[in-house]
Amino acid sequence: MLVSSVVLLCLLATVSGDKALSSHASILADNSANFAFNLYHNLAKEKDIENIVISPVVVASSLGLVALGGKSNTASQVKTVLSATTVKDEQLHSGLSELLTEVSNSTARNVTWKISNRLYGPSSVSFVDNFLKSSKKHYNCEHSKINFRDKRSAVKAINDWASKSTDGKLPEVTKDVEKTDGAMIINAMFYKPHWDEQFHHKMVDNRGFLVHRSYTVSVPMMHRTGIYGFFDDTTNNLLVLDMALAHKMSSVVFIMPYHVESLERVEKLLTRQQLNTWISKMEQRAVAVSLPKVSVEVSHNLQKHLAELGLTEAVDKAKADLSNISGKKDLYLSNVFHASAMEWDTEGNPPDTSIFGTDKLKNPKLFYADHPFIFLVKDKKTNSILFMGRLVRPKGDKMRDEL
Ligand SMILES: *[C@@H]1O[C@H](CO)[C@@H](O)[C@H](O)[C@H]1NC(C)=O
Ligand SMILES: *[C@@H]1O[C@H](CO)[C@@H](O)[C@H](O)[C@H]1NC(C)=O
Ligand SMILES: *[C@@H]1O[C@H](CO)[C@@H](O)[C@H](O)[C@H]1NC(C)=O
Repeated sequence: MLVSSVVLLCLLATVSGDKALSSHASILADNSANFAFNLYHNLAKEKDIENIVISPVVVASSLGLVALGGKSNTASQVKTVLSATTVKDEQLHSGLSELLTEVSNSTARNVTWKISNRLYGPSSVSFVDNFLKSSKKHYNCEHSKINFRDKRSAVKAINDWASKSTDGKLPEVTKDVEKTDGAMIINAMFYKPHWDEQFHHKMVDNRGFLVHRSYTVSVPMMHRTGIYGFFDDTTNNLLVLDMALAHKMSSVVFIMPYHVESLERVEKLLTRQQLNTWISKMEQRAVAVSLPKVSVEVSHNLQKHLAELGLTEAVDKAKADLSNISGKKDLYLSNVFHASAMEWDTEGNPPDTSIFGTDKLKNPKLFYADHPFIFLVKDKKTNSILFMGRLVRPKGDKMRDEL
């Protein structure tokens, strides 16, 4: 009797897909979370970048692709950037692959996350068969040659591919390609969080979002009051909110200053350790949440940023050795376009109606996101960061200045 119920429990655990990550995938998940903060800060220091959306686990898998195609330092620098020098090559690839398969599993996680990766090589390149196979297997990467002699149509071909592979959600990866003589990695993604408790689709209206003190745009805002993780950091004048996504395997953490200001001050505070401190101080309580219901499309060329984080050889025409891609030392990494369409919407699981009208929802704290904030999609199971970014300028018409 006891034995059979133990067997049954084991079976249930297997059926629910609640399998632990292998140890090397766990190490890579943890490392990619540290890498997330480094990459975010590297992007945030650029004056001309407003909105940021990066998926550290997807960038990590593109780095894995570089390691797969690279030799000597070109390959080993990938591990340095990911602080994974102790992980064996084969484990690097299988671990990154395992991690991404786990966190993007739409059945287990009820998430809409389409990820397409493509490696473009110049028309002169010939891809090694072995590389084509293993990059498809580990990184689900497609390959294509591209001829930049007609630049307009080459750029159009890239954007058409991205649009098609995101069902039209991401119409453009880039307007132009400066360096046309190397290999390009492109990530095209569409991500839509599915809340653990949905917003009511009718609780949406147009409000002003203050891009800065003297510039306001009109955006649809969705509103709901529920029980959420909340911390009011009165020392640093900011609010931290944690909203679970469906199946509670991941959540979105918002970090927002009390009032509209440039995010620089808050970004100076933002480390992985500080995030954990904020989360540890949270209480589960009633919060009246208002969030922009918007789509954010952002494309970053990460080539320079990855070089600044230590990937110096792959991007250097004179030094790069990507000969496992082409069989020759004829390639360098000229571009890494990382592009996402992220759709913030009302959809989610039906809410727990039993607490409606009870004391539990009384005196909610306000989280009114009408000015720039930072967000992270944190994964509980793997401890990785699925997305990290900031919303500074949502799409919307400029509102008339208030008198
Ligand atoms: C996704 O999760 C489901 C349910 O947990 C599981 O049966 C399936 O094997 C997983 N898919 C992949 C590709 O891991
Ligand atoms: C790279 O190519 C060499 C042979 O030139 C081979 O021994 C090695 O296994 C290849 N690495 C990968 C990751 O395919
Ligand atoms: C998520 O679950 C809802 C039901 O709660 C379902 O309608 C929806 O299709 C699911 N989405 C995904 C991406 O699995």
